[in-house]
Amino acid sequence: MSGGQFVSKCTADAITRAAQQLKAGSLVALPTETVYGLGADATNAAAVARIYEAKGRPADHPLIVHLSEMADISEWADEIPEYAIALARKYWPGPMTLIFTRSSLAQNFITGGQDSVGLRVPDHVVAFALLAEFKKLGGKGIAAPSANRFGHVSPTSAEAVSAELADYLVDGDLILDGGPSQVGVESTIIDCTGSAPRILRPGAITEAMITQTTGLHPAESETDIRVSGSLENHYSPDATVALDCEPELGDGFIALASVPTPDGVVRLASPANNEEFARVLYAALRSADERSLTRVVVHQPSGDDISVAIRDRLLRASRGR
Ligand code: TXA
Ligand code: MG
Repeated sequence: MSGGQFVSKCTADAITRAAQQLKAGSLVALPTETVYGLGADATNAAAVARIYEAKGRPADHPLIVHLSEMADISEWADEIPEYAIALARKYWPGPMTLIFTRSSLAQNFITGGQDSVGLRVPDHVVAFALLAEFKKLGGKGIAAPSANRFGHVSPTSAEAVSAELADYLVDGDLILDGGPSQVGVESTIIDCTGSAPRILRPGAITEAMITQTTGLHPAESETDIRVSGSLENHYSPDATVALDCEPELGDGFIALASVPTPDGVVRLASPANNEEFARVLYAALRSADERSLTRVVVHQPSGDDISVAIRDRLLRASRGR
């Protein structure tokens, strides 16, 4: 039997206990609106080291620090440009991570040795309750990468977290069940260390939304900042992912509901629109592995909305692990 107690009812008592466990150095997997995260006290080097161990993630890949409210960013960030404040006001709590020049609170074990730190205020009642309770105990923030093994598909349910990580969790660690993630792809990451915002990873907060809010056009993301999600092979199921081709007998198939299912093909998802596509994509890719399919064909959605993030993740998934 593997570790990591599964908490299916996140009552106030359960949240209090989870916050205490975090403070004591345990890992707590938590739901967010994007994907589930594997949380640790962001000021505890030993606890954070366990995140890297559980994920099998290289130590030089930075972690996002999650906060209960926007006001807390001044503890972690040194320089906060005007446009970043506009973004935070507009889209937090929400599926957006902002990268700032770090304060001394953001140590090398969080930033992967870089001079910047990623911050996010997630939009999920359980995440908020946990962050608020953790703060009451003196906690400064919860470091949380997506709760999957390095290179795998991010989990959008507590069951998927358990399937990924239960073998690597121990007594005292917890997995909080907050239902299926409502956005389904990871947050938009925006570099706020320059004179204009720069998108490092697309997500539900789109380029047009950033321009509209800041009056600035996001710069091209030519960057020396390391984003592990931008490694070539990432977000991959065991099955091969093939894009925009005709599925063959026995293939898994993911496409908008308007696309019919060819004979002999295993339909894994039929989302009605791009938002639903994002919400169900990772569970559909996981289900391909659960059914031991060797190949999944995905017809990519078009547009300049959240489909940009979908195509970004699918391109990486299609390159395999
Ligand atoms: O939606 C999300 O962002 C989820 C939920 C749990 O919040 N988290 C997530 O974390 O996707 P992770 O670690 O799987 O991906 C975060 C990405 C990584 O690629 C990391 O390299 C990048 O953010 N990142 C974190 N801090 C950074 C920094 N200071 N500079 C540049 N990239 C950073
Ligand atoms: Mg990840």
